[in-house]
Amino acid sequence: MSEPLILGIETSCDETGVGIVRGHTLLADAIASSVDEHARFGGVVPEVASRAHLEAMVPTIERACETAGVRLDDVDAIAVTSGPGLAGALMVGVAAAKALAVGLGKPIYGVNHLAAHVAVDQLEHGPLPEPCLAMLVSGGHSSLLRVEDVTTGVDPMGATIDDAAGEAFDKVARLLGLPFPGGPHIDRAAREGDSVYVDFPRGLTARKDLERHRFDFSFSGLKTAVARWVEARERAGEPVPVADVAASFQEAVCDVLTRKAIDAARSEGIEDILIGGGVAANSRLRAMAEERATAAGLRVRVPRPGLCTDNGAMVAALGAEMVARGRTSSALDLPADSSQPVTSVLV
Ligand code: KG4
Ligand code: ZN
Repeated sequence: MSEPLILGIETSCDETGVGIVRGHTLLADAIASSVDEHARFGGVVPEVASRAHLEAMVPTIERACETAGVRLDDVDAIAVTSGPGLAGALMVGVAAAKALAVGLGKPIYGVNHLAAHVAVDQLEHGPLPEPCLAMLVSGGHSSLLRVEDVTTGVDPMGATIDDAAGEAFDKVARLLGLPFPGGPHIDRAAREGDSVYVDFPRGLTARKDLERHRFDFSFSGLKTAVARWVEARERAGEPVPVADVAASFQEAVCDVLTRKAIDAARSEGIEDILIGGGVAANSRLRAMAEERATAAGLRVRVPRPGLCTDNGAMVAALGAEMVARGRTSSALDLPADSSQPVTSVLV
């Protein structure tokens, strides 16, 4: 018998994602993004995102089925992001998933968006090493997690105490006059820049901070330091070297992220690090993580950039794992929980 066919729906932020997998095989990953509608506001507008999900949902499901060459009737289970994320946006995905589950008479799994960012790597690199140290870096989260079994246990070791890594990228991009979302633009600009041009602060790496915040992050001081630096230049009537500032900022973020991820893995005696979330698409982070992990005798896995940013395949991947491990499906009245804790993988 072939492995079960899982359809996953993601609507936690501004991407309407519908993924279809069979076991660990990715068959379709259809995405409709409302990012262009938010760009002029410099951030995601929740109401605009919800409406866009509503309009995109059915066409995106149809596109995913077409790409995968399957009919909805063939699907064995539905998985959906139940949280965390924007409440209204999540509700659209959860309502669509419930409608499919009822209409098709198939089980539904309401899963955690953060755990899905971890599980997606199975589609590319096979079964997850157990345990592994996951670093999740996105627009809303920056966490270090010990993952024993992604379907049941995700233990937080540390997280950001202020801005998320992606948020810092987006805010600094804005300071530099780059479009939203800023991460990919900083990544691109930094390639032409000098990463030691400005020595920006590395948050929570001083000895006194490490006592209380060894595995936590802070990016708000870094963002302020970039703002002050840019302002001083402008006040002096000098041009801002965008590429150099972007490269120096990016270097500071990647330096802290990789250092802390390696420290966390070592402290737990874990040899495998997995990086996920939108910021894991960053080319410098990927290169630095690979280099430093190898030097430390550790292995690092990062999904390809398209699977790092929000998508439906990641939700389908986690759903497939739930089915494979025989987890009980969610009740049909499962909630959309905008502040679902990372420890709650399945609702
Ligand atoms: O995981 P994601 O798609 O959505 C959330 O769950 O937040 O992450 C989006 C974040 C944005 O802040 C975006 O600027 C950042 O990921 N991002 C990047 C890159 N691509 C996306 N940050 C740095 N470098 C990139 N190449
Ligand atoms: Zn995400």
